[in-house]
Amino acid sequence: MTFPVNSISLNDDTSIPQLGLGTYRLEDDDAYRVASDALAIGYRHIDTARIYKNETGIGRAIRESGIPRDDLYITTKLWNGDQPKARDAISSSLDRLGLEHVDLYLIHWPAPQRGTYVDAWKQLEVLKQDGLTTSIGVSNFEPEHLDAIAAVSDVVPVLNQVELHPLFQQKALRAEHAKRGIATESWGPLGHGSVDLSTEIPALANLAARYEKTIAQVVLRWHIQEGLIVFPKTSHKDRLAENLSIFDFEISADDMDEIRGFDAGHRVGAAPADGNWD
Ligand SMILES: NC(=O)c1ccc[n+]([C@@H]2O[C@H](COP(=O)([O-])OP(=O)(O)OC[C@H]3O[C@@H](n4cnc5c(N)ncnc54)[C@H](OP(=O)(O)O)[C@@H]3O)[C@@H](O)[C@H]2O)c1
Repeated sequence: MTFPVNSISLNDDTSIPQLGLGTYRLEDDDAYRVASDALAIGYRHIDTARIYKNETGIGRAIRESGIPRDDLYITTKLWNGDQPKARDAISSSLDRLGLEHVDLYLIHWPAPQRGTYVDAWKQLEVLKQDGLTTSIGVSNFEPEHLDAIAAVSDVVPVLNQVELHPLFQQKALRAEHAKRGIATESWGPLGHGSVDLSTEIPALANLAARYEKTIAQVVLRWHIQEGLIVFPKTSHKDRLAENLSIFDFEISADDMDEIRGFDAGHRVGAAPADGNWD
């Protein structure tokens, strides 16, 4: 049995379902299968990107689901090499998705070496005005990158999507977001498939046993209670249901503190400065 997913209010008077489906490493056919299964059991928020090569499969799953467009929240992202031509990039993404607009369009990486992300932000402002995306935001931005766009634009990103999990909790960046009215999305919420949180943090097993939940459920619930937005990726149908079933229990304040104490500053994915791939 699953329960309704909470929503988080964003700084542009919209809101986003706090839990969704991540789709990195699921190419079109797998993404179609997984997204179809996810939508069938109640997921309404899907995170994709041009570089994931799965917008076509996800678009097919959305169409075949028959779910009204307004009930869905779809995010896609502007890839590095496309920063100079954001309108072409979003138009191609929308064609592949079979949608007239996305709910959220993100600059995937600042890739500051290219010198194009600030201008890309100005382009995203126009895409929003033109209704191609409802909201605009960023991903993998550090405070200096947020400063650079704030210097040329009054539009504050609704959120910043960054690596975040119990081993890498981004406390300083989250405090910076809070000051600026920017929500935080956690990518790699379960460790990005690069690290096994149950081995790295043995105490999670005790917590999971105490709440009669799995380790993944306790970790995802921790993200939710921290006010973060999460979209775990799985290719397994049973795990889709497991990852959605986290709204029927509450982690105590003491146990939230215990999990906060597992922060090891341990990044497992690429750092913002390294995300400059073509
Ligand atoms: N903006 C960015 O730069 C960026 C970077 C990375 C990711 N993302 C987004 O964030 C999403 C989530 O991050 P992620 O995919 O990197 O990592 P993740 O969701 O933290 O972890 C995915 C891994 O966890 C496993 N898993 C999922 N549910 C599980 C469960 N209940 N029990 C045990 N294992 C479980 C998956 O295996 P199975 O598939 O075998 O179940 C997969 O190996 C991505 O899919 C993508 O949409 C964004």
